[in-house]
Amino acid sequence: MEKSIHALMVILVLLVLESASMATDFSSLSHADECSLLLQFKESMSIRKSAFDDSRAYPKVASWNLNGSGGAGNCCLWDGVECRFGHVIGLDLSSSFLYGPIDSNNSLFNLIHLRTLNLADNNFRSSQIPFGIGRLSQLINLNLSDSFFSGKIPKQISHLRNLVSLDLTGNPMLTLQGSDFQNLVQNTSETVRELFLSWVNIDFVPVSLVNSSLLISLVMWNCGLAGEFPTGILYLQKLQILDLQGNPNLIGYIPEFHGNSELKQLIVAGTNFQGSIPASIGNLTHLNVLDLHSNALTGTLPASVSNLTQLTYLDLSYNNFDRWKLPDWFGKLNKITNLSLSDVNLYGEIPSSFFNHTQLEELYLDGNQLKGQLPSSLLNFQNLELFYLDGNNISVDFYLFLSLKKLKHLDLSGANNISLSVIDSHKNESQPMFINLHMASCNLKAFPEFLRFQHQLEHLYLDNNNIEGLIPGWIWNISKETLKELSLTDNLLMGFEKHSPVTPWVSLFTLDLSHNMLTGEIPPSICDLLSLQLLDLSFNNITGSIPPCLEKLSNSLVLLKLRRNSLQGTIPNIFTNGSSLEMIDLSENNLEGQVPRSLENCKSLQILDLGHNFIVDMFPAWLGALPELQVLILRFNNFHGIIKRPSRIKVSFPKLRIIDLSYNSFSGDLPHQYFQEWSAMKESDTSVEYMLAFIMENDHLGVGYWLSIQITNKGVMTDYVKISKAFFAVDLSGNMFSGNIPESITTLSGLQLLNLSNNELSGVIPPSMGNLIRLEALDISGNKLSGMIPQDLVQLNFLEFLNVSNNKLTGSIPLGKQFNTFPNDSYMGNALCGFPLSKKCGDLEASKPPKASFEEDTESDFPNGIDWVVILIGAMTGLVIGLVYGDYLSTKYYKWFSQRSRR
Ligand SMILES: *[C@@H]1O[C@H](CO)[C@@H](O)[C@H](O)[C@H]1NC(C)=O
Ligand SMILES: *[C@@H]1O[C@H](CO)[C@@H](O)[C@H](O)[C@H]1NC(C)=O
Ligand SMILES: *[C@@H]1O[C@H](CO)[C@@H](O)[C@H](O)[C@H]1NC(C)=O
Ligand SMILES: *[C@@H]1O[C@H](CO)[C@@H](O)[C@H](O)[C@H]1NC(C)=O
Ligand SMILES: *[C@@H]1O[C@H](CO)[C@@H](O)[C@H](O)[C@H]1NC(C)=O
Ligand SMILES: *[C@@H]1O[C@H](CO)[C@@H](O)[C@H](O)[C@H]1NC(C)=O
Ligand SMILES: *[C@@H]1O[C@H](CO)[C@@H](O)[C@H](O)[C@H]1NC(C)=O
Ligand SMILES: *[C@@H]1O[C@H](CO)[C@@H](O)[C@H](O)[C@H]1NC(C)=O
Repeated sequence: MEKSIHALMVILVLLVLESASMATDFSSLSHADECSLLLQFKESMSIRKSAFDDSRAYPKVASWNLNGSGGAGNCCLWDGVECRFGHVIGLDLSSSFLYGPIDSNNSLFNLIHLRTLNLADNNFRSSQIPFGIGRLSQLINLNLSDSFFSGKIPKQISHLRNLVSLDLTGNPMLTLQGSDFQNLVQNTSETVRELFLSWVNIDFVPVSLVNSSLLISLVMWNCGLAGEFPTGILYLQKLQILDLQGNPNLIGYIPEFHGNSELKQLIVAGTNFQGSIPASIGNLTHLNVLDLHSNALTGTLPASVSNLTQLTYLDLSYNNFDRWKLPDWFGKLNKITNLSLSDVNLYGEIPSSFFNHTQLEELYLDGNQLKGQLPSSLLNFQNLELFYLDGNNISVDFYLFLSLKKLKHLDLSGANNISLSVIDSHKNESQPMFINLHMASCNLKAFPEFLRFQHQLEHLYLDNNNIEGLIPGWIWNISKETLKELSLTDNLLMGFEKHSPVTPWVSLFTLDLSHNMLTGEIPPSICDLLSLQLLDLSFNNITGSIPPCLEKLSNSLVLLKLRRNSLQGTIPNIFTNGSSLEMIDLSENNLEGQVPRSLENCKSLQILDLGHNFIVDMFPAWLGALPELQVLILRFNNFHGIIKRPSRIKVSFPKLRIIDLSYNSFSGDLPHQYFQEWSAMKESDTSVEYMLAFIMENDHLGVGYWLSIQITNKGVMTDYVKISKAFFAVDLSGNMFSGNIPESITTLSGLQLLNLSNNELSGVIPPSMGNLIRLEALDISGNKLSGMIPQDLVQLNFLEFLNVSNNKLTGSIPLGKQFNTFPNDSYMGNALCGFPLSKKCGDLEASKPPKASFEEDTESDFPNGIDWVVILIGAMTGLVIGLVYGDYLSTKYYKWFSQRSRR
């Protein structure tokens, strides 16, 4: 019996082989030949343990040899080798530490009986997929996922006419060109069932895929797909899983569903699908995952969705739906474990039927206009682990949440009215252990007592409440091992009840106590928070001096913000070699003495703000050696002397873009040597990026904070919540600079703001200043400048603010363009004539009023609000998948993404 089957199979195999032209040379391969081909393959490969911890991985080929237990060359017993009827038909070398490229003439590609080849999770060192793979024409399953292949996928892949399953997931440097994809699809249309292509660069989905009638799964996350999605694919009879997540340029719509459909998972999220959801979606009765988040869908949710009773996962977040109420029928979908309705324009009360969702584990209702009171039937949600309700107007008695034992992530921030009516004498054992607790803007007046018993918190936000009094001593004892972020900003806190924690939070990376009324000194115990990356105590009334023990944090801190307090004394030398500091803001204090020389160690420093103190020093030219310094603010101090560039420093301020030395006592000539040197300001950078500092939660996940400063712009002190990388400013006003305005200043061609006012400058305005074509504000008032206003300044097309008042200027004011828009005040205190002044110029034709009226540019480049972005690095095997921020994701998807990543 066995024998006859064998014989039959051999005949079949031979028939197949005959039709495969490439294979004929080897059709007579003997078993021993195949074993020796395997050994040749083994010898051709290097094995290198990867740096990443992977418990499944071990070098399978290491044990291959000819003398093994199976007798001479019985390679069928080798690890990862599968044989049938004397031929090697399967090779599973996944997670085997294979390292380096495979050549196309490798013996592996002579194993023409192979049906299954799995090389997933190895490191082929960014080599190309060898075109020799096209010779394995019997292949049914090919798995090259997470294997560091790069470049173009060879055309020869379309020779694999029998492919049923192809997995190329997670090779982000790999490209499958649309036309090659098309050929592959055409050649495999009668066999292919599974295509897993996530993170491979693919330009479009070929229309011909609608002919692959056996297709069950099509998974293409983050492929960079563009153009229109061929809707017909959704009608494939066998299709069960369609996942197109994270292709923001993929356009499409959800079609009508009539016939039968096997669809179980429809994941079209972070794409550009438009139109409304048709009522016929209710025909997809097998659906258990429906994820349509972050699209441009309109309309409302059709009532037929109530027929999708198998749904366990429903995500409709971030779409453009019409205003709608949570329908009563929603309660019928009571198998749902994950429900996301963030930002979908919901209003009104939550119907009582909604609390039928007893299986819910994750519930997102944030960013809607829901109102009313959460009823006690909330207690039905005993499986709830995550609940985001922020941004609504819901009242709730917090004690209800304390009875949801599995709850770990709770966000109630925003307009919600949280009452803590029960004096929470809750015992630790009876309450849920939160990991994320966000209760910003919840109108809290005191620290919630239940926090005393929280031992697993990682992120605690209580910002923007009305919490008064002292920070209780017990706070230092909560979640000692786990707490990573503590934000108490924007409250009415007055100080610390107790200063010295016995053991501090070992994992804390963010401590934000800014915008309170803290008095007293900085508790030295802060210096024991050795993981701290962000310390923000700004906008308080903290006295005393900066504790020298902060030196202990110098290598971990990225942002140190102590602005607007009452700190005194000199700035201690707390900056050690290896400092990670990117921003130091000590402005608006009473600090004295000199600029601490240890700042030389801050090789990553981007922003230094020492403004509004009592520092007495010469210009700290030695800061010019800091390679990353972009912003230097020394405004309102007692800096003095002549600014000279020291010759012993090779490069001086190579990245400086914003410098504010205003209101000090600098004298002598303007620093013309520096004007020639500040190379960053000579670029007309039109970057749309903003300055960021990254606070890393761990190796993979970090939060980027926009860096912010204050600077005088157009005569007004202005907050820059974000600093565009294309913003360049020089403010040298309010000093005793004398001499002429040097021509060299006109080489700073990127400048947008230039303020030289209130000095003792004399001579004429150099006509070449007309070359500073990006200038938006020019203030040279309060000097001794003479002569005419050069006509060349009319070229300054972006100039919105001009002040030349209180000089000794004479002659007629130039006319035209922006000069038609400046008010009288711009010119006062001179001997000028012409528009807009009433004084006419001689007997020439009087100044004409301008014709065009210029509209005020009301749009600020720098929107308010605290923004942040998230990066995700190394989702797979530690590989850098990419910096996921900025333009790459549509704003909505990005918002969704950042929300989810906060967990
Ligand atoms: C088989 O050969 C390997 C080298 O390939 C050797 O290390 C091993 O000792 C041999 N085993 C036996 C049983 O001969
Ligand atoms: C395979 O090709 C490389 C060059 O691409 C060559 O060096 C090598 O000798 C070839 N090996 C075999 C077995 O033909
Ligand atoms: C490909 O191999 C990897 C690693 O062994 C595995 O996780 C994945 O499920 C495989 N893909 C398919 C389609 O079987
Ligand atoms: C389809 O496969 C055959 C070999 O099996 C090959 O000759 C042909 O070029 C392939 N078609 C395309 C479009 O690549
Ligand atoms: C599909 O849904 C539509 C609208 O809900 C309905 O009119 C139609 O009869 C359904 N078709 C089938 C085959 O169930
Ligand atoms: C649910 O499905 C049934 C049977 O197909 C249909 O008659 C009914 O109209 C559907 N309900 C809704 C609300 O579409
Ligand atoms: C609640 O769920 C039950 C089944 O568990 C169902 O019979 C009932 O109709 C649901 N209630 C509402 C209001 O949807
Ligand atoms: C800060 O505290 C001092 C006394 O310590 C007080 O004189 C001053 O008014 C306070 N400033 C603010 C802004 O509260």
